[in-house]
Formats: sequence, structure tokens, C-alpha cells
Amino acid sequence: MTTLNFRPAAALSGSVAVPPDKSLTHRAFLLGAISDRAVTVENPLDSEDTHATLQAVRALGAEVQGDVSDDRVVITGRGVRGLTPPPVIDCMNAGTLMRLVAGILVGQSGDVTILDGDASLCGRPMRRIVDPLHAMGAVIEPTDDGTPPLAVRTGRPLHGVVHDLPVASAQVKSCVLLAGLNAEGETWVREPVPSRDHTERMLRAAGVELLERDGMVGVLGPVDSLSLPDIRVPGDFSSAAFAIVAGVLRGDPEVRVTGVNLNPGRTGLLGVLARMGADVRVEPGPDVAGEPCGDIVVRRTSLLQATDVTAAEVPSMVDELPLVGLLGALAAGITTVSGAHELRVKESDRVATVVGLLRAVGASADEREDGFVVIGGRSIPGGEVQSDGDHRLAMLGAIAGIVSDGGVTVHGFEASAVSYPGFADDMASIGAQIA
Ligand code: S3P
Repeated sequence: MTTLNFRPAAALSGSVAVPPDKSLTHRAFLLGAISDRAVTVENPLDSEDTHATLQAVRALGAEVQGDVSDDRVVITGRGVRGLTPPPVIDCMNAGTLMRLVAGILVGQSGDVTILDGDASLCGRPMRRIVDPLHAMGAVIEPTDDGTPPLAVRTGRPLHGVVHDLPVASAQVKSCVLLAGLNAEGETWVREPVPSRDHTERMLRAAGVELLERDGMVGVLGPVDSLSLPDIRVPGDFSSAAFAIVAGVLRGDPEVRVTGVNLNPGRTGLLGVLARMGADVRVEPGPDVAGEPCGDIVVRRTSLLQATDVTAAEVPSMVDELPLVGLLGALAAGITTVSGAHELRVKESDRVATVVGLLRAVGASADEREDGFVVIGGRSIPGGEVQSDGDHRLAMLGAIAGIVSDGGVTVHGFEASAVSYPGFADDMASIGAQIA
């Protein structure tokens, strides 16, 4: 287990090029595997999650040249329904992999494939994909608790459905649309609030005509061919969020985060920061991979104001809500996050783990069933925290240390490699002291 101590920093300055987008790397690999043409994925994210996806793509019979640690990976796919399902796919910690690959797998021909994962993933809810896939005619079974491993019997004929998502989720939406590629007729998905649309953008770029009606998105299947263009993966907003928040609290004169994916389904944190009075400037650049991209420049804000984050904002900042807890602890007033039940079923129960971490560093925070409440206005003394095996918790602890009075020791810091292996180096490059 790795333990790191993040010391208080009086000022942070400089530029950070955050790692490539995790959501886009997963999707580029998976859609590459069902594409007709060889797809070059430049600048893929080198992390444990995306390594799992590339392994899965290999196991499914796509030809892969290169690795996640390379600047480019070339995937020669097998077409929309030409994959060869293996007996087991290990999804490790990656919920996005498990939910998206399930949608692809049900349309392939083979025997039984087990979708497995680590202890964290095997505690996460899968009925949200199992139910719509059943409705489409797929045979896919979770454990009695509705969790992985999932047993998928491939080779069943699928038909279209209209699926109403009870909770907005890009993973579930993507799973159903990907299954729809191999289903007979129209497959529709309706979300209560729109979630990130990376899958839709990539499918369109690959030549799939998506349907739109009454706020729903759909696909008319079966789709015979996918021709994904080569793709260069831009920086990940969810990784950038750590440097952004650190810069809002300690940027002097400023912290610049470069080449970040600014898909509006991801950037809800920017609206929240604006409400809190933070000094944040977005410098839009050219689109990359069909996604809006740019730089974000932040400066220390002397006094942030508390805010209320509500259900409608949650999908566009679901992975950044832990950072809102930290911002709230240092803002004037009481910050609340509500309508965020989803936090309870992330890589850890992030309502409990975020509140636990904030308390451990001396902040005043309380759980709510669907979020949390943070009483701000005081500095953070610091302390010792555990990552609980959750990458975003490990990095939240790090930023808490950097903006604390006494520093924070983070146990289990290795979890950060799930999405951001170079995090400590990047923070050190803008002035963080790490021991
Ligand atoms: C993701 C969607 C979100 C997010 C996750 C990545 C994706 O999950 O939390 O980190 O790439 O589609 P949900 O779809 O469960 O909200």
C-alpha cells in the first residue's frame, strides 16, 4: 500500500496537461473492436481501467497493435457482430467497461461469457443494464444481489425497446444503444436529465444514424457497419477538476489546465464554481474527436460562497461531487448536495467516504440519504485518510492536504492509478509538496 503525505502549499502556479479522457478511451477501444476499419487511437489514457478495456478488446478477438502506455494503439475490429466472446472478461475496477461491453456482447455469437471484476465492481448494481437487456431478449444474469459477476449467454436474437432510465446514466444509456446496434427495430432511451453523450457522438462519427424524438435518443437496428474514424483523445475533465479546484483555492498567480474535453455533459462543476464566486476562465480551442475542448485558467479566490447542488446538476458533475464537499468546507455558509443517490454506488459509497474523509481532515460534514451537507467557513486542520480503494477519494485527500493547515496523509494512494497515474507528479509540477 502506498502512503503519501500532501503538505500545505502557500501558492500553486503553472500549467498541467491532464491525462487523456477515460470515458473516451474506453469508448474508442470498444467501438474500434466493432468497427470495419482499422482505427488508430492516439493519446489513449494509460490507466488500470483502460488497460482492462484493451485486454477485453483483445479477448473478444479484435487485433490490437500497441498498448495503453504507447502514444497510439491501432485496433482492427471484427465488425458489428463478428467478435468471438471469450469464457471470461475481467473488467477489474471499471464500471464503464462492464456496462458498455455487456451491450456489445449480447449481440455476438458464442457460448457463455462471464463478466467479472474486483471487489468494488462486484458490489455495484447491474440490474440497471440487466433489465433493459432482458427486455430486448438477451440472456444475462447477475448474482442474487443484482451485482457482478454477470453470466451472458450470447447468440440470442434481440429486438428493440423503449427504455426509460430511472436515473440518468451514460453507462446504461450506452449499453442499451450498443445492444440496439444488433437488435431488430428501433431501440430508444429516455433519461430524466441528459448525461454525457460521448457514445452518441462517436456512433455518429462512425456513420450510425441516431434517431431523436421527444427528448429520447435511439438507433434503428440491425446496423450492419461501423466505420470509426481515427481519434485523438483529449484531456479528461474529471481529472482536470482536481487541478482546477486546487487552483481556485491556491492558484497564485494562476493554474492553467490545458487540452481539456469540455463536453457540456461533463462540465457542471464550472457552473457551480461560478456560483461560488471562483475566478475561472475557459479558453475554448478547436474541437478534438468531435468534442469541444480548451484550456481552463483559475486563480485563487479569497472567499468562496456556499452553494446548493441539486438533482438536475448531478449528471454533469457526478464524478466531481466529492470536490464540491471540499470546496464547501472552505466556503462561507452551508453547502449542500442533494439528488445524488448515485454517489452511493460508485467505486465506493461516495456519500459515506467523502463525508468520512472531510471529517478526518477536520471539516464539518454530514451524510444525507441522497448527498451531503458541509458547514464551511473554517480552515482545514489536516489529518490522515484512507482511499478506500477509490481513485477519486485518494486524489480528494491529496487536494485536501494541499489546501490544509497541517497536511494530509493519504493511505492507499495507489488507487489513483485507476484514472490518473501521474497525479502526484502533476501536482508537484505546480508546486505541491509531497512526501
Ligand atoms: C461514465 C459515466 C458515469 C461516471 C463514470 C464514467 C461513462 O457513470 O460516473 O465515471 O464513461 O459513461 P454513470 O453512467 O453510472 O453515471
